[in-house]
Amino acid sequence: MNIDDDFKLDLSKIPSHVAIIMDGNGRWATEKGLPRHLGHQEGMKRVIDVVEAANDIGITNLTLYAFSTENWKRSKIEIDTLMNLLIIFIRKELRRLMKNNIKIIALGNIEQLPSNALAEVKRAVDKTKDNSGMVLNIALNYGSRTEIIDAIKKLVKDYDDGLININNINEDEFKRYLYTNGQPDPDLIIRTSGEQRLSNFLTFQSAYSELYFTDQYWPDFNKRSFFIAINDFQNRQRRFGGV
Ligand code: FPP
Repeated sequence: MNIDDDFKLDLSKIPSHVAIIMDGNGRWATEKGLPRHLGHQEGMKRVIDVVEAANDIGITNLTLYAFSTENWKRSKIEIDTLMNLLIIFIRKELRRLMKNNIKIIALGNIEQLPSNALAEVKRAVDKTKDNSGMVLNIALNYGSRTEIIDAIKKLVKDYDDGLININNINEDEFKRYLYTNGQPDPDLIIRTSGEQRLSNFLTFQSAYSELYFTDQYWPDFNKRSFFIAINDFQNRQRRFGGV
């Protein structure tokens, strides 16, 4: 695929699973003298663009970090903005997601979301559950440490109920207890806005992920930026501990 004159994407080397920390909405707005919520609003448009781009090039799993367990520390008005954008995103995009055969999965403790947002998320998950195309994971009230502890609790319960044998617990078996059960680990994790850390995102799953950091703020991260990240990934050598 010719993205531009300066580079091509190798369609035989598309990462299966790409995960994104969409950071910098607030700074994008503040630097333009705008209120923070306009940064999130513009950020939602990039979500739509990147979902389309990922689907077009054959990515099978796309994970977007939309709301972390730490994001509750923000002001009520900002939390309300983010929840409303989630609702707007689903109402606006569900038909197109269905048309593109995309399956939505919510990663995180969604029961703690405000009831109107929770209802929309459940509607989207339910409506798309039989779709067989790209999986779009939306991480909502997600924290990786909580995910791991939840997994341990479920595993211990299964052990208590006699459903698993301690000798059979291995990495693959443990992964079945994570929210990402059944999905491949992320090949590539992208973080925008210049921060270079994972911030409690997919800690277990990211053991061998390639990391890509860009200074662009999320509202500036367009399809071309996404393809540049994929192209960068395609030029890396992955050895998974081998030689
Ligand atoms: C980080 O920017 C971004 C978030 C906490 C939320 C991401 C949400 C969206 C992109 C919009 C809605 C998403 C969906 C899936 C519909 P920040 O506010 O931390 O930026 P800052 O570090 O510059 O303050």
